[in-house]
Amino acid sequence: MTDITRRDFVRNSMAAGTTVATTSASASAVAAETSTDTKIKIVALSCSPRKGKTTAAALGVCLQAAREASGKIETELIELADFRINGNLAAGVPGPEGDQDDFPKLAPRLTDPSVRGIILGTPVYFGGMSSLCKAFLDRAIVLWQDNFALSNKVAGVLACGGTRNGGQEVTIHAVQVSLFCQEMILVGNGRPGPRIGATVWSGAEGGVSKDEFGMTTAKALGRRVAEVALRVV
Ligand SMILES: Cc1cc2nc3c(=O)[nH]c(=O)nc-3n(C[C@H](O)[C@H](O)[C@H](O)COP(=O)(O)O)c2cc1C
Repeated sequence: MTDITRRDFVRNSMAAGTTVATTSASASAVAAETSTDTKIKIVALSCSPRKGKTTAAALGVCLQAAREASGKIETELIELADFRINGNLAAGVPGPEGDQDDFPKLAPRLTDPSVRGIILGTPVYFGGMSSLCKAFLDRAIVLWQDNFALSNKVAGVLACGGTRNGGQEVTIHAVQVSLFCQEMILVGNGRPGPRIGATVWSGAEGGVSKDEFGMTTAKALGRRVAEVALRVV
């Protein structure tokens, strides 16, 4: 490549980059905070088979922080322990659990247009997500097939483990990969710390609420999901 053509190449590349940046900015779902008083909803989904336990409690902290972020925010905690989710159906086979499950009842509570943010929480099981969480994420292929029904909803992830460094971060990351595939807008905890989600330790004496560090990450995640959800049009 001659100097001239190399220069042209660089200039053209930069111009192309500008076009991409401009296009993606204008096409972006992110806008200034909505000025209307319309309420928006943030749903937390607990993927623990144990109802009302530590994952649910930590998600409650996220939701409280989200409500405190703005009076426009309403929240709801949904516990998958209340639902039968058959992951096999994602592959089109019933498996031992049969050909019915409760996913069709659950789905509208997530895809409703008023739901602008979803915080998904899972216990850490052997360094990964719970089987219930995986079954839910796989089963959600029907939402992906339904013209990306979760597209542009804001998503944050919380992992709750029995030990401090019990695999919370890798678990969060694995869940995020699935949500990326759904075209969701993934957020972490925001400033000041570069953290990818809420990392909670249920083994703290006195329970999750006494896990000072974990609670800081849970509040930060709830706040961040709220902050971005308010800007998504
Ligand atoms: C099968 C199984 C595997 C687990 N593996 C881990 C693990 O790898 N790391 C960890 O920190 N905790 C692990 N735990 C502990 C749970 O993550 C912890 O008790 C969590 O708080 C449970 O959430 P829940 O109270 O919402 O059910 C495991 C628990 C079970 C039942």
